[in-house]
Amino acid sequence: MSIGRRAGRVDLGIVGGGPIGLAVAWRCAQRGLDVAVYDDATPEDGQRPPARKAIGERTGAWEVAAGMLAPVGESCFGEPELTALLTDSAARWPGFAAELEAAASAEVGYRAEGTLVVALTADDLAAAVRITAYQRDLGLGIDRLTPSALRELEPVLSPRVRGGALAPGDHQVDPRRLTSALRIAAGRAGVRFVRRRVADVCEVYADRVVVAAGCGAARLTGLPVRPVRGEVLRLRAPGGDPGFRHVIRGYADGREIYLVPRRDGEVVLGATSHERADGAVTAGGVLELLRAAADLIPEIEEYALVEAQSGARPGTPDNRPILGGWRTGSREVVVATGHYRHGILLTPVTADLIAGLLVDGVALPDAFEAARFTERRVACA
Ligand code: GLY
Repeated sequence: MSIGRRAGRVDLGIVGGGPIGLAVAWRCAQRGLDVAVYDDATPEDGQRPPARKAIGERTGAWEVAAGMLAPVGESCFGEPELTALLTDSAARWPGFAAELEAAASAEVGYRAEGTLVVALTADDLAAAVRITAYQRDLGLGIDRLTPSALRELEPVLSPRVRGGALAPGDHQVDPRRLTSALRIAAGRAGVRFVRRRVADVCEVYADRVVVAAGCGAARLTGLPVRPVRGEVLRLRAPGGDPGFRHVIRGYADGREIYLVPRRDGEVVLGATSHERADGAVTAGGVLELLRAAADLIPEIEEYALVEAQSGARPGTPDNRPILGGWRTGSREVVVATGHYRHGILLTPVTADLIAGLLVDGVALPDAFEAARFTERRVACA
C-alpha cells in the first residue's frame, strides 16, 4: 500500500496513544497498514513515559483507570445499545488479552475472579437490588447473595454489610500494563510513534486519520466530548497481598465506590465523578473514597496510600462512544472516542470495529456514529 507514496507519509495516522489508539494501531498494522501514532506523552521508542508524581492530575483516563471489565455492573437503565457493546467487548477480552500477552511478551493483569456487589445499609441494599434486578432482567449474569454468603467469599468484608450480589462475568485488567503491552505489540507489528501534540488533524501526514484522543477529540473535531473528572486512589496492602481477590463494587451510606485488587499487591479505589474541567484531587474526594472503603473493608485503614490522581473520562451527551466517519474542516477522519467510563472494557471491540471499517469497509453500528449529534456524516469505506 505504501508503494509510490511521498517519503514519510503513512497509510494511517492515529492521534492519541492511549489503549484505544494503540489497539487500533496494532490491529491495523496486523492487517497490513503502515501506521503512525501521534501522542505528546509517548516517547518515539514507544516505551512507557516517565512516572508522574503521586498526587495530581494524569492526562489520559487510562492512566488512572482501575481496569474493571464490567459489562454487568456498568449497565445502567435506558442504555441498551451501550450494554450490548459492553457485553460484546467483554466476550472478546480473554482472547484479546492472551493474544496481546503473546505478542508483547508481557502480562496485562487480566483476572477473572468476578465482582461482588456489596451494600452496607438497608438503603444501600435497596439501591443495589434495584439496579441488579434490572441487570438480571436484561439476561446479564448476576445473582443475589446473603451477607453470610458474601463473607464466605471475602471474609475481610465488614460484619455490617447487609447483602449484595455476585457478577461472575465482570473481570479486571491492569490499564498501565495493558498500555505498555500494546505499545510493545504495536511496535513489533511495525507501528511508529511520533512524539508530538497534534493541534489540527491536517498536521497528520497520512492517507487516513483516526482521532482517538479522548477528551482532546473535542478540540480536534468539534464533537461534544466533555471531561468528567474522577479521583482515584492507589493503596498497597501490608505484606503486599490484599486480603480479597474479587473486585468489590460497593454502596456505603449513599456513596458508590469500587475496589480492585491486583496480584502485585496494589488496590485501586475509585472513583468520584464531577462535571468539571480542572484536574484537582480534593481532600473531600479522598475522604469520601477512603471512608466508604473502610466502612466496607475495615482493614483498608492499615493499607499504605501510594497515589491520589484525577483523570478525565471522555463523556458524550448520551454516554455512548463515538465511532465512525466525520468531517472536520477540510479533512475526513475516523473518530474513536467518547468511551466515558468504559474505555478499557471497550478497547478490543473498538479496535476490531475501526480496523474492520478501515481495512474491509465494514460499516459501524448507527448507534455510535458521530452523525447522531449533527448531520456531518461521511462515507468511510
Ligand atoms: N470505569 C469506572 C469509572 O469510570 O470510574
